[in-house]
Amino acid sequence: MSGRSEVLVRVPAKINLALLVSQPRPDGYHDVETVYHAISVYDDLTASLDDDISVATIGSQADQVPQGADNLAVRAAVLLAEHTGAADGVRMRVRKRIPVAGGMAGGSADAAAALVACDRLWRTGLTRAALLELAAEIGSDVPFCLMGGTAVGTGRGEHLTPALARGTFHWVIALADEGLSTPAVYAECDRLRAGRAVPTPRIPAAMMQALRSGDAVALGAAMTNDLQPAAVNLMPDLARTLEVGIGDGALGAVISGSGPSVAFLVASTEAALDLSIGLTAAGVCRDVLRATGPVPGARAVEARWST
Ligand code: C5P
Repeated sequence: MSGRSEVLVRVPAKINLALLVSQPRPDGYHDVETVYHAISVYDDLTASLDDDISVATIGSQADQVPQGADNLAVRAAVLLAEHTGAADGVRMRVRKRIPVAGGMAGGSADAAAALVACDRLWRTGLTRAALLELAAEIGSDVPFCLMGGTAVGTGRGEHLTPALARGTFHWVIALADEGLSTPAVYAECDRLRAGRAVPTPRIPAAMMQALRSGDAVALGAAMTNDLQPAAVNLMPDLARTLEVGIGDGALGAVISGSGPSVAFLVASTEAALDLSIGLTAAGVCRDVLRATGPVPGARAVEARWST
């Protein structure tokens, strides 16, 4: 085996501009209607041919990422090998910038990157549709990490329709000290809603209209997340983070997915810098990221073929 061919895949974080959640289904999942939005916070996955399938993670939270068979990039590579009969292995290295357990699809992003990288490296040449299907087997958010842009997700979130969205939006993301477990947040949501009628999830029409017209003020007002009360209950400090960001002039604020990252929409790059300073000065987050969206999904940005 040559071991010298290498491919670099860049994959974005996602935030959920809207997340409407049903009652639990018999299989334990929840039907959702969600608007995914890919933003310019990236993990980079480098892959080269090897005998086995392995991953190593570098970056500030690398110690919180499983390195073995539980790693979603490893699961993606194993699934692709099983599905295609590819006999090669892969050695992957992930430079993490997407927060771990932050509600921004950090693990799912690496799975999507691994699918793209291995498909190239092993020359399995799957269609986009086949890759999306494999992605859905790994996790609800993995297909969107492949697709990127802005898209409506239904089912568990894995059925995607690209959304018409005009222009570029500016974001400030407040990161929390700790992560939140997605199943725990869904379970807390169920607990809080026990005994109450839960409406069928439906994305507000105002949100789709705001995206179509590129209207940041209207988008900020339409952002919503059914999991937010549950995330705040499990991490009460998030209420203060939301309050400070809105008080400092954000056009809208929403916890992303199951949290705890909070996405603030602002009007410009300058406003993003001002809000970052405000959030940092108030001491309501571990760190802040500034980003724009939408951006493309997982894609190979560089490949060297030496054999
Ligand atoms: O699909 P994924 O493996 O990312 O989901 C992780 C967990 O989040 C699931 O096991 C489930 O508890 C919860 N979940 C859910 N409904 C969804 C997506 C995720 O209940 N639509």
